[in-house]
Amino acid sequence: MVSKGPLLRLLTAINRRRMKLLMGLAFIAYVASVWGNFVNMRSLQENGEQKVESKIEEAVAPLREKIKDLEKSFTQKYPPVKFLSEKDRKRILITGGAGFVGSHLTDKLMMDGHEVTVVDNFFTGRKRNVEHWIGHENFELINHDVVEPLYIEVDQIYHLASPASPPNYMYNPIKTLKTNTIGTLNMLGLAKRVGARLLLASTSEVYGDPEVHPQNEDYWGHVNPIGPRACYDEGKRVAETMCYAYMKQEGVEVRVARIFNTFGPRMHMNDGRVVSNFILQALQGEPLTVYGPGTQTRAFQYVSDLVNGLVALMNSNVSSPVNLGNPEEHTILEFAQLIKKLVGSGSEIQFLSEAQDDPQKRKPDIRKAKLLLGWEPVVPLEEGLNKAIHYFRKELEYQANNQYIPKPKPARMKKGRTRHN
Ligand SMILES: NC(=O)c1ccc[n+]([C@@H]2O[C@H](COP(=O)([O-])OP(=O)(O)OC[C@H]3O[C@@H](n4cnc5c(N)ncnc54)[C@H](O)[C@@H]3O)[C@@H](O)[C@H]2O)c1
Repeated sequence: MVSKGPLLRLLTAINRRRMKLLMGLAFIAYVASVWGNFVNMRSLQENGEQKVESKIEEAVAPLREKIKDLEKSFTQKYPPVKFLSEKDRKRILITGGAGFVGSHLTDKLMMDGHEVTVVDNFFTGRKRNVEHWIGHENFELINHDVVEPLYIEVDQIYHLASPASPPNYMYNPIKTLKTNTIGTLNMLGLAKRVGARLLLASTSEVYGDPEVHPQNEDYWGHVNPIGPRACYDEGKRVAETMCYAYMKQEGVEVRVARIFNTFGPRMHMNDGRVVSNFILQALQGEPLTVYGPGTQTRAFQYVSDLVNGLVALMNSNVSSPVNLGNPEEHTILEFAQLIKKLVGSGSEIQFLSEAQDDPQKRKPDIRKAKLLLGWEPVVPLEEGLNKAIHYFRKELEYQANNQYIPKPKPARMKKGRTRHN
C-alpha cells in the first residue's frame, strides 16, 4: 500500500507552484491592465489636450490678427519721422507748443527726428493741436505755466508761450506781462543752467504804430507804454531786453525772431484778426466787416513759412533780431474780396466806421533774413488761404456736431476797439 503522505506532499507542492504561477500571471495581468489603463488615459489626456489646444488656437487666432492690426495701426498712427543719430538728434523744448504756431513747429521738429518736449498751460493752446504725437517715444507734453520755474535737460528752447491775438492778451494784461517777463526770465535761467540756446518768439508789435515803412530791424519802434496793447508790446520788448542781458552777462546763446502776422490751420476760431474774421464770416454767410474804406494794407505769411524761418534762425549764428514775415502787401478790401471768392460765398462786404489807432500800413523788411538765413516765404497767398479755409470749414462742421470746442474768454476790457490786426 502506497502511503498518502508523499503523494499529498507532491500534489501540494504542484499546487503551490501552480498557485505561484497563477499568482505571478495574475500579477502580470494586473500590471498589464494598469499599464494599459495608464497608457489609455495618457492618450485620452493627450487627445483631450490636443483638442483643448486646438480650441484655444481657434479662439486666439483672430485675436492675434487683431493685435497685429492694432500694432500696425499704432505704428502707422504717427506722421513719418526721420531717424537721426544720437549726435544729430537734439532735445528741444517748445513753450507754448500746443498753440497755433507752436504746434506746427512741433510737427516740423518731430518729423525732422528730434526729441520734442511741449510745455503749455493751455490758456489759448489745445491738446488737440498736438494729440497726433501723444505716445510717441520722441514726444512729451507737460502741462506747465512758464511763470513757474522749470527744470529739464534740453539743448534748444523755442520760447513761444504768450497769448498772441489782442482779445487773448488783453483778457488778462497782468498775466500777459508775467508770462512775457517772469516766463522769459525762467526760460533764460533754464537756458543758462543747461547751456541751451534760446529763441524768443518776439513780434512786429515791438515796432508799435510804426513811423517807418517797411519796418527793418534797426527801427526802435513807436509804442504807447500805457495803452491797452502795452501788456503785450512792452512785454515782448522787455523780453528782448532780457535775452540780450543774459547773452552779455551770462553768455547765453539767444536768437530773436520778430514775427509778423501769420495765418493757417489751427488758428483760433475767435482769433479776432482779419484773416480768420473774414473766412468765418464768409463761411457762415455773414457780411465781411471792413473798418474804414479798406485801403489799409496788411501782409500775412503762411504758418509753414514762419516755421521754416524759426528753425533756420535757431540753427544760424545770427544773434541779433530778425524779421520773419511776408512782405506781400494787400489792402484789407482786397483780402475781403479774395476770401469771398475762394470760399464761394455770397456774403456782402460791409463798411463800418474806421477804428482808432488802426495802422495804415504794415509790411516787414525781410532783407536781413534773406541775406543771413537764406530764408523767404514761398507759399502763395491763395494756396495758404485755401488751406486755412478748409480748416475753418472743418472746425465749423465739428462745432455743428455739438462737439466741445474750447473758446478763449472774451476780453475783459470795457472799451475794446475793433481793429484790423
Ligand atoms: N501768430 C502770429 O501772427 C504771431 C505774430 C507775432 C508774434 N507771435 C508770437 O508767436 C508765439 C505763438 O503765437 P501763436 O499765434 O501760436 O499764439 P497761440 O495763442 O496760439 O499760442 C500761444 C501758446 O502759449 C501758451 N501759453 C500762454 N501763456 C502761457 C504760460 N504762462 N505758460 C505756458 N504756456 C502759455 C498758450 O496756451 C498757447 O498754447 C507767441 O509768443 C506770439 O507772441 C505770433
